[in-house]
Amino acid sequence: MKYEGDINQLLKIDFPIVMAPMFLVSNVEMMKAGMRAGIMATFPTLNYRKDLELESVLEELNSYREGKPGNYGVNLIVQKTNPYYVRHLEICVKKKVLFYITSLGNPKKVIEAAHAYGAKVFCDVTNLEHAQKCYDLNCDGFVAVGQGAGGHAGPNPLQVLIPALKEHFPDKPVMAAGGIATGAGLLSVRVLGADAAYMGTRFIASKEAGVNKEYKDAIVSSGMDDIVMTTKLSGTPCSIINTPEAKDMGLKQNWFERFLSNNPQTKKWFKMLVQVRGMKKLEESVLPNNYKRLWTAGKSAELIHEIVSCEEIVQRIKEEYRVSLESLKNA
Ligand SMILES: Cc1cc2nc3c(=O)[nH]c(=O)nc-3n(C[C@H](O)[C@H](O)[C@H](O)COP(=O)(O)O)c2cc1C
Repeated sequence: MKYEGDINQLLKIDFPIVMAPMFLVSNVEMMKAGMRAGIMATFPTLNYRKDLELESVLEELNSYREGKPGNYGVNLIVQKTNPYYVRHLEICVKKKVLFYITSLGNPKKVIEAAHAYGAKVFCDVTNLEHAQKCYDLNCDGFVAVGQGAGGHAGPNPLQVLIPALKEHFPDKPVMAAGGIATGAGLLSVRVLGADAAYMGTRFIASKEAGVNKEYKDAIVSSGMDDIVMTTKLSGTPCSIINTPEAKDMGLKQNWFERFLSNNPQTKKWFKMLVQVRGMKKLEESVLPNNYKRLWTAGKSAELIHEIVSCEEIVQRIKEEYRVSLESLKNA
């Protein structure tokens, strides 16, 4: 059966943009701005690791949502190496979160827990194999993560990944992630068959983002060739701005690190160690007056020229989308 539903209705939003979850960047102010702007605003639960913090954030967002045209959701990293995953899922279920995005692992527990009370779960996928696993677990849709995305970018271009997902799983809605920062970008992925655009990097250069000014300025000044992939931060290829500190850190794990990551006896613990070390480095880099510059960003930094509010970003994208659609009518 072909998915012919209305994604806005499914997500309880006005316009098909998802403010993507971003470790250390997404915050409550961005979620509130997204809800005011009528889009789906999401954050990784990992941004709230202190006891009771996540619970009180969810309470605040639940009451703020009343009467707003947009909605909010959470991202759970469902990898075995995430020590917060099970606890965070329990808290989200308790607070009746309506929308989940899972990344980097098996989403079974999240799908079962969310479906028990009617919440929706979309799974990050970069290829058909992982999509099939999520499909078999009865996910509600996919986030197609393609080339050029901020964070853990996929290896495949959206021009291939979106139609392939639509061909194999026509009954599931798809959100397109990777390199989208404008209304023309949103239109292009809708033409390919995506139901919504999922944007991260564009919202780092926002007034509300919870990172230092240097990071936001770096998004504005970086071009597509300044974005490189490194496995040093999490073990999985992750996109960062090629600052002097990134060059010092290096882009590839050495042979010994690769050995420890692949050896069945050391794999899990070594990956955890790499991730904890990577998180610490990234954390230092987003604080005010930092001297380290390890900044995650996608290739769409090329298209971002100004730091404005989240609502202004959404307004601009809506207008660009309208103009792009109009120009095609005359083509
Ligand atoms: C700074 C940053 C942090 C990110 N953190 C996460 C995260 O914690 N969990 C996740 O699933 N994706 C994360 N991502 C990926 C985004 O959710 C999204 O897939 C990506 O930003 C889309 O590509 P774009 O940046 O080109 O818009 C992150 C991306 C960035 C830029």
